[in-house]
Amino acid sequence: MNANETLKSEIAQKMTLDQVRYSQVWEDHLLLERGLDIHPDDDVLSICSAGDNVLALLLLEPRSVTAVDMNPAQTALLELKLAAIRVLDHQDFVRLLGVRPGTDRLKIFGRIQNELSPQTREFWLTRHEDIDQGLIDTGRLERYIQTFAQDHLPTFWAPDVLSRFFEQSPLEEQRDFVVKQIGLPDFERCFRWYFGREKMAEQGRDPAQFEHVEEGDVGGYFYQRFCGACTELDLHTNFYIEYFLTGRYRNLETAPPYLRPQNYHRLKALIDRVHLHTGELEQVLDSKSSGYFSKANLSDIFEYMSPELNEAVFEALGRQLRPGGRIAYWNLLVPRTSSDRLRHLLKPMSDLSEKLHAQDRSWFYRAFHVEQICG
Ligand SMILES: C[S@@+](CC[C@H](N)C(=O)[O-])C[C@H]1O[C@@H](n2cnc3c(N)ncnc32)[C@H](O)[C@@H]1O
Repeated sequence: MNANETLKSEIAQKMTLDQVRYSQVWEDHLLLERGLDIHPDDDVLSICSAGDNVLALLLLEPRSVTAVDMNPAQTALLELKLAAIRVLDHQDFVRLLGVRPGTDRLKIFGRIQNELSPQTREFWLTRHEDIDQGLIDTGRLERYIQTFAQDHLPTFWAPDVLSRFFEQSPLEEQRDFVVKQIGLPDFERCFRWYFGREKMAEQGRDPAQFEHVEEGDVGGYFYQRFCGACTELDLHTNFYIEYFLTGRYRNLETAPPYLRPQNYHRLKALIDRVHLHTGELEQVLDSKSSGYFSKANLSDIFEYMSPELNEAVFEALGRQLRPGGRIAYWNLLVPRTSSDRLRHLLKPMSDLSEKLHAQDRSWFYRAFHVEQICG
């Protein structure tokens, strides 16, 4: 593809974009924070998804964060969170989202709805049931994960066994205990089946998201990574695995940064720095002047692209971002990086990337990459 041609997303043509697919972000915010090294003059471009990492980056106080998502339901979710942060106190905010119990969510929503754009208000007014149940679990992937936690896990572990996963203990002790639980043959079989390609494509993700996946044993891959995270990382502070297995955050002070009470007032003061863009990242890159963005969080979007589009998008990033800037992204099931042909534009920060990936508290990802924009 010629770099001057308009970049066009492939995945946006292949998936229905009428539902919230992700109501939480499962990509470890600490990796982004450490990888992107945010400064006050940064203008950050970030894949929106459920907005959690847009808000985590915002808390580092860059000049701006532009959240982009091809799925209007995802930007509608972040728009709702921003409106809620603007209007509500912290207690009502976490009740509205379903992070804490509540029976008055529709009433709380009524207090923020006039802050929403007409199309986002319309979107949520037709989804009263989702609001009533709490938006934190409304995504297609989160419903899938919750069904695993509610319908399958109790057949292996009693509640007191599960809560022991997250007790503070030396890593050796945690490992001894956890290895016995996750090594149960029936658990392994169930995990591999539930997170295998067929079931995930049908119910948790979308078949189009597997188009470029060559991994033969997706369930086995996920099981291995899950075991690695449970035995190599401290579970006591791992809110990603805690929510995955228990469907809740015990302690909001150590939950995703945007939910922490100690961050809430600062978040309120910063939200006007967020810009929302519904559309493809490829279009945003085309539409902004060169040097507008300095840093970018790209989630694992390269995974859904053909090798040709990958190359074109990496090239556009290398040309469009500010020299000295950085991009960060994950690989899940498809290994993707910029090619050697683009070394005059993008320089992989391999040591940093590997060091950060070893700290990844979210257990899904095969790799994390940080690349620097060449000057
Ligand atoms: C890349 S997905 C990652 C989710 C999870 N890691 C997974 O693989 O299932 C996160 C968000 O990126 C959005 N997205 C994917 N490709 C995009 C693109 N080319 N432009 C804008 N948004 C995109 C999706 O709509 C989704 O909300």
